[in-house]
Amino acid sequence: MKLGTPLSPSATRVMFLGSGELGKEVIIALQRLGVETIAVDRYANAPGHQVAHRAHVIDMTDRAALRTLIEQERPHLVVPEIEAIATDALVEIERSGLCEVIPTARAAQLTMNREGIRRLAAEELGLPTSPYCFANSVTELQTAIDAGIGYPCIVKPVMSSSGKGQSRLDGPADVTSAWDVAASGGRVDQGRVIVEGFIDFDYEITLLTVRALGASGQVETCFCEPIGHLQVKGDYVESWQPQTMSPAALAGAQAIAKKVADSLGGRGIFGVELFVKGDQVWFSEVSPRPHDTGMVTMCSQYQSEFELHARAILGLPVDTRLREPGASAVIYGGMEASGIAFEGIAEALAVPRSDIRLFGKPEAFARRRMGVALACAETTDIARDRAKLAASRIKPVAA
Ligand SMILES: Nc1ncnc2c1ncn2[C@@H]1O[C@H](COP(=O)(O)OP(=O)(O)OP(=O)(O)O)[C@@H](O)[C@H]1O
Ligand SMILES: [Mg+2]
Repeated sequence: MKLGTPLSPSATRVMFLGSGELGKEVIIALQRLGVETIAVDRYANAPGHQVAHRAHVIDMTDRAALRTLIEQERPHLVVPEIEAIATDALVEIERSGLCEVIPTARAAQLTMNREGIRRLAAEELGLPTSPYCFANSVTELQTAIDAGIGYPCIVKPVMSSSGKGQSRLDGPADVTSAWDVAASGGRVDQGRVIVEGFIDFDYEITLLTVRALGASGQVETCFCEPIGHLQVKGDYVESWQPQTMSPAALAGAQAIAKKVADSLGGRGIFGVELFVKGDQVWFSEVSPRPHDTGMVTMCSQYQSEFELHARAILGLPVDTRLREPGASAVIYGGMEASGIAFEGIAEALAVPRSDIRLFGKPEAFARRRMGVALACAETTDIARDRAKLAASRIKPVAA
C-alpha cells in the first residue's frame, strides 16, 4: 500500500459521487493523507466541492455523463455518497477495470433501491425484517395490506431517502393518500412502493460496521459501539453513542450486520439500521457508506466514521473504539433562502464539551440539515442535553 503526492503523476485519486456533509468529512480525512480528491454533485458549491482538489457538477443519473467524467479524471477509487446514481454504469466501469467502486458496484446497485436490499436481506440471507410487499398501484397496495401486512403499516417509495414520500397507515382510509404521497416523494421510478408492517420497537440503532484490512492482511469485519437515534418523519434529529443494549440484542445486531456487510463485500463502512425490542432485532436497511446518525462519532470515537471509511477504502487498518459517550443534534435551515448566516455560534460553543459543524450548503430550506452540534459527557443523557442546547443556540438568519 502506498500513497502518492496529490496533483502529481504519483497521486492517489478518489472521486466522490455526491458531495454533501458526509462526503465533505471523508474528503477532509483523505486530504490529511495527501490523497487527491474529486468531488461531484448535481449542484454547484456542494459542501464537498468546497474542500476537494476539483469539483464537478453533473447529473449522476446520466450514465454517459458519469462515464465521461470518470474517463477524464481516471480516479483509482469511486466512492458513491448518495443513492441516486446510474449504478448500472458503475457496474460496467468496475467490470472494465477502469477503477474500483466502493465498497462494490453491486452494493451501490442493491442499496439504491429498497427492493434490492430487502430481497437480499430477507430472502437470500434469511435475516429478520418487517413483513413487506411491493406494489405498483393503489389497488395492489390495498390487496397486499388486506392479504396479510395489515395495519398499522408504512408505505415508502422504493427509491427515496430521509423519509421522503413515506407515510404511516392506520386504516383503509389512509391508503390512497399514502400512494399519492409516495408517488410525489420518490425519485426516478415513481410507480412502485414497499409496504412494511409496523415494528413496535423499543429503540432503533445504527450499527456502524467496517470492512477493512486486518492484521492478517485479509478484509475483516468489525463494529463501532451502537448508535441510538431519534427520527422525526423519517429524518434523523438526534443521535447518541453508545446505545445501551442487552448482550443478546447486541450479539444479534452484530450477527445481522456482519451477514449483510459481508454479503455486499468490498472495503468501507456500512451504516446498518436495526430495530430492537427486548432481545429481538430486525434488519431495516443499510447504507454502504458513512451514515448521517454517525456524525456523533466525530466527538465520541478515536476515529470518526469518516476517518474509518477513508482508511478502510485505502486498505489501511482501523480502530473502531469508543473514546467517550457523545451525542449529536441537527441544526436546520429554518427558512427558504440562499447564502444564509448563523448567529449564536459563541453561545453554542460555550456549552461544555460541545463542538459544531456548519456544512456550508449554499441554499437553506426550513427542514434542510445545515449543520450539527456535537457534545461529549460522562453519560449519553448529559451529552444529548448538551448537544441539543448547543444546537438550539444557533440561529439561522437571512443574509
Ligand atoms: N417497518 C417499520 N416499522 C416501524 N418504524 C419504521 C418502519 N420503517 C421505517 N420506520 C421508521 O421510519 C424511519 C425511516 O425509515 P427508513 O430508514 O426506511 O427511511 P429512509 O427514507 O431510507 O430514511 P434514511 O434514508 O434517512 O435512513 C426509520 O428510521 C424508523 O424510525
Ligand atoms: Mg433509514
